[in-house]
Amino acid sequence: MLSGKTAVITGCSRGIGRAILEGYAENGADIFAVVRKEDNSFSLYCQELAKQHTVNIYPVAMDLSDEGQVKNKAREILSYKLPIDVLVNNAGAAFPLRMLAMTRMEDIKDSFQINFFSPLLLTQLLSKNMMRQRSGSIIFLSSSAAYDGGANIEYSAGKAAVIGAVRRLAVELGMYGIRVNAIAPGLTDTDMGNGMSQADQAAALSMNIMHRKGKPREIADAAVFLGSEMSSFITGQTIRVDGGLR
Ligand SMILES: NC(=O)c1ccc[n+]([C@@H]2O[C@H](COP(=O)([O-])OP(=O)(O)OC[C@H]3O[C@@H](n4cnc5c(N)ncnc54)[C@H](OP(=O)(O)O)[C@@H]3O)[C@@H](O)[C@H]2O)c1
Repeated sequence: MLSGKTAVITGCSRGIGRAILEGYAENGADIFAVVRKEDNSFSLYCQELAKQHTVNIYPVAMDLSDEGQVKNKAREILSYKLPIDVLVNNAGAAFPLRMLAMTRMEDIKDSFQINFFSPLLLTQLLSKNMMRQRSGSIIFLSSSAAYDGGANIEYSAGKAAVIGAVRRLAVELGMYGIRVNAIAPGLTDTDMGNGMSQADQAAALSMNIMHRKGKPREIADAAVFLGSEMSSFITGQTIRVDGGLR
């Protein structure tokens, strides 16, 4: 489904991002696999995965809390002179549930930096390449928390901001043949999902029609679909992959 395409995927070290990396490699994409820090074992893993699926995988280290790094590393990616066909803004961070009254404004800004500003900056930098080639697909990871407020103010609001940005970016970039969509997972079986308190997980599952957590691969499959030509007439959408929430 992705043969001949080059994708940039953030947050490939684990969880949903790792599943997207594997899904993209299996479907024939060449990949810039972004992780927070340089890591030899991750580089070796990428080599094996690339060999297994006869694709190219380039590990890139980029800390999304540092805008300077995002700019430098985006330049590094562009210096390969490859067309960037897909950007998956997957990396994200959540902190334990607490009320606004207990939250420092600094924490809200830090969360927005990782979950909203840096993905937007990366989109700004890499979409220029897509605009020149007049095609591309940009995918953001939102969350069911954007709809139901099931997480901290900064996370719920940051993931809701993603949905608004997707609507606007789809309008701005559509004329260049670039599609922009988001995926909103429900509670998913990753470090982030499993890091929620047992009570919060139980509350999330009690509202879930399928009454279980999502598997990272089930979220990744939606990212494969949105990155591929199978979704060529879909833009500006947030697809909920959450087992159906009541
Ligand atoms: N799991 C869920 O229940 C759920 C539900 C809805 C939405 N989501 C969203 O889905 C996406 C993936 O979540 P996940 O469940 O796979 O989370 P995860 O298991 O916690 O993995 C988060 C990923 O983001 C990376 N990351 C975090 N902070 C970073 C930073 N400052 N710079 C660069 N990379 C950073 C992590 O890198 P390190 O390994 O270096 O920390 C890791 O690769 C996120 O956007 C999340 O908000 C998840």
